[in-house]
Amino acid sequence: MDRSALEERFNVQLPSSKVLYDRACQVLPSGVTHDARYLTPFPPYIDRAFGSRKWDVDGNEYVDYWMGHGALLLGHAHPKLVQAIQEQVARGTHFGGCHELEIRWAELISQLMPAAEKVRFVGSGTEATHLAMRLARAFTGKTKTIKFAGHFHGWHDAVTSAVIEPDEAPSPGVLRSSLEATISLPPNDSALVEKAIEQDGDVAAVIVEPGGGSWGTIPTTGEFLRELRRVTAQHKVVLIFDEVVTGFRLAPGGAQEYYGVVPDLVCLAKVVAGGLPGGAIAGRREIMELLAFKDDPDWNRRRKIAHQGTFNANPLSAAAGIAVLEEVAKGDCIRQANGLCAQLADGMNEVLQGAGIPGRVYVLGSMFHIALEVEPDDADYRHLVRLAKGPKASELRKAMLLEGVDLMRNGGFLSAAHTADDIDKTIEAFAKILTAKRRMDR
Ligand SMILES: Cc1ncc(COP(=O)(O)O)c(C=O)c1O
Repeated sequence: MDRSALEERFNVQLPSSKVLYDRACQVLPSGVTHDARYLTPFPPYIDRAFGSRKWDVDGNEYVDYWMGHGALLLGHAHPKLVQAIQEQVARGTHFGGCHELEIRWAELISQLMPAAEKVRFVGSGTEATHLAMRLARAFTGKTKTIKFAGHFHGWHDAVTSAVIEPDEAPSPGVLRSSLEATISLPPNDSALVEKAIEQDGDVAAVIVEPGGGSWGTIPTTGEFLRELRRVTAQHKVVLIFDEVVTGFRLAPGGAQEYYGVVPDLVCLAKVVAGGLPGGAIAGRREIMELLAFKDDPDWNRRRKIAHQGTFNANPLSAAAGIAVLEEVAKGDCIRQANGLCAQLADGMNEVLQGAGIPGRVYVLGSMFHIALEVEPDDADYRHLVRLAKGPKASELRKAMLLEGVDLMRNGGFLSAAHTADDIDKTIEAFAKILTAKRRMDR
């Protein structure tokens, strides 16, 4: 994959995106609105999307594996979702008040997720993890949260450390005092967690992506989660599952159902809001009750956790969330996406083996990751995260884009709208790129 040749092909195939990008750079830092959407020489500008596909402003068609950063389990513009949103938009998008949809939405979450005794809606996944950590501190009277290297929980100060390494430099502008309240540990080692809890004595919570760091880039095991459950319960530390990605995707009840481990708190976003903005936190009644008012001014003033948010449970997101969760409850959409994801990985692994290129494609439910140039049994988490976030993943993404496949970083999300044709097209593109690469390497 020759970088300058790839970039030259971008200019030829995506000329209208280049024009928009130049305009965007005048008003948006680096022309983008999310770090993950940054791409050199410029990103494709998308005009419309339907099912598993999307089209850019030059009319190029892509098999889409971003699926709204994982939010679109049913694919783009699913008819049930479009209908629910259209009906609601005409009835009002913000009532500045309570409405029945938020109750139905919370009931569905409670019904599907073992941990969700009570629910509070928030605006995003970042807000969900932020609030979960505050709840844990208030509940335990302790300060610190343990997080794992390579596990992503949004962009608020306390979780910006250890995106790759446990002791890497923090992002500029982040409050040191917030970072000091976070203990970063290597993933998948529960003995280290137990030791840190015992030695520190001030740990309120352990937060984990239960499907493995960076949506499964760093695979995990049920055994690790079971050990975390045992250790946290024993030391009265709150166990937070960040199910922003895995919630309602890995199984109808999320990772907690898939692995059979019930956390104290669960953070939700993406699928829960049906592809519209929104999120939620749910969990054990006695912790969630810290958000409740009581007939006690002292409690309300000093012990209740303050929590606001203009767009919490807004009716449009509620309508979309309900439409999707009702489909999730039937189970078929998850099964279908998972089945196709396994087929995709099998096909890509055959390509790798056929080409004699070291590497592997691995899956968790409907999410897949491509790790090129690793030995099949390489499980070093630093290596896997660096590969996923590094220039090689970006080169592969560009090459695949030019063949009509839009990967999210080094992998992506399947939806119930993907088809066998999408899988064939993706495997074909992958084979073409790797064959060209092997020719160049010789
Ligand atoms: C596991 C996880 N937690 C939290 C977040 C943050 O969610 P949001 O982008 O809605 O703030 C993300 C976003 O990708 C995520 O993958």
